[in-house]
Amino acid sequence: MKDADQKSGFKYPWAKPYIDESDRVAVNQALDSGWISDGEFVRRFEQGFAHAIQADHALTCSSGTAALMLALLALEVGPGDEVIVPGYGFAGAANMVLAVGAKPVFVDVCADDWCLDPSQIELFFTPQTKALIVIHNYGAIAHMDRILALTNRYNVKVVEDCAEAAFSEYQGLFAGCIGDVGCFSFQAAKTLAAGEGGMVVTQSEDLYERMLLLRNHGMQPGRHYFHAVAGHNFRMTNLQAALGWAQLQKKEFLCRRRRMITDYYRDFFHKYRELSFQLIKPSEHPIFWANAVLLDENAEHTRDEVMKSLAAAGIETRPGFVTFDQMPPYQAHPLPVARALSERILCLPTYAALEKNDLHEICREVKRHAVKEKSFF
Ligand SMILES: Cc1ncc(COP(=O)(O)O)c(C=O)c1O
Repeated sequence: MKDADQKSGFKYPWAKPYIDESDRVAVNQALDSGWISDGEFVRRFEQGFAHAIQADHALTCSSGTAALMLALLALEVGPGDEVIVPGYGFAGAANMVLAVGAKPVFVDVCADDWCLDPSQIELFFTPQTKALIVIHNYGAIAHMDRILALTNRYNVKVVEDCAEAAFSEYQGLFAGCIGDVGCFSFQAAKTLAAGEGGMVVTQSEDLYERMLLLRNHGMQPGRHYFHAVAGHNFRMTNLQAALGWAQLQKKEFLCRRRRMITDYYRDFFHKYRELSFQLIKPSEHPIFWANAVLLDENAEHTRDEVMKSLAAAGIETRPGFVTFDQMPPYQAHPLPVARALSERILCLPTYAALEKNDLHEICREVKRHAVKEKSFF
């Protein structure tokens, strides 16, 4: 039996970075080089990541949130503009829309894949709609073909928030390479962990150049202290990049483990009516950052009761995201599908170190607390 995880105190935390000797070697190399702000690992991580997801350009930055900000600034989104944002998802995208002075316009999500609902988008387009942000929630890819058909017709730019979807694929393309700009996060819980950190990817030379400029104070490359635009400091350190690069070298292993975990949870629970999973579309190969289950509305125990029982059994879980219609900064209209997901979603432990016997134990406990006897379909 495993001891409790040192950091979380739980036997099974909900997420955990996978750090091994190769990560330590790379970070020490960066330290020993003396290049602890910019440095060679920054370049290596950018080139390696671009290659891994077949992007033309990749640029590291300080966080997934900074990546979203860079994307919006490069697309010249600002005051007076509206940006479509999914009604369910992490709030970083909506926050950055507000931070650039634009208005987030929330559109509800689909009840099956939990991502932006393409059938509702057109209702919310106005002459002020400048961009649309899709959030590939938990690693599942939104209906990008239907979304792009609309955004192309209305000349609206598309930002993919791929913080939870590194290496997920859709119709032969990697997440991040489907819209105009893709934004990634390397915060500790993510598929690749660099402590903190982010990446923007694009196939557009022009957008890349703009983001390069904005990332470094707007200072023109090759001209010290000449600021072509008023930019930010969104640079990633060489220390983070060393960790990110080392993680990238074991991407096959990290993705394989996440696929195994997803298969295990889905195989174990598919026959119980109390729990269901996010739809995986036929054209999609997701790498799930989190394996979230949706508790049936008629389940015996509420999601919060199940979380409490699991915590007492040493298993940490996370609830669904709170929807924008329930939080003060967003002034969102009611989002009924998102709200139902928000109240009934439970994210199960998902990290590369989990073995099959761990998953078996977690599943047994989830079944004990969330499933009635004889609840087979
Ligand atoms: C979908 C999504 N977008 C953006 C972010 C923000 O990334 P970061 O924490 O690296 O700023 C996160 C999570 O952290 C996320 O899950």
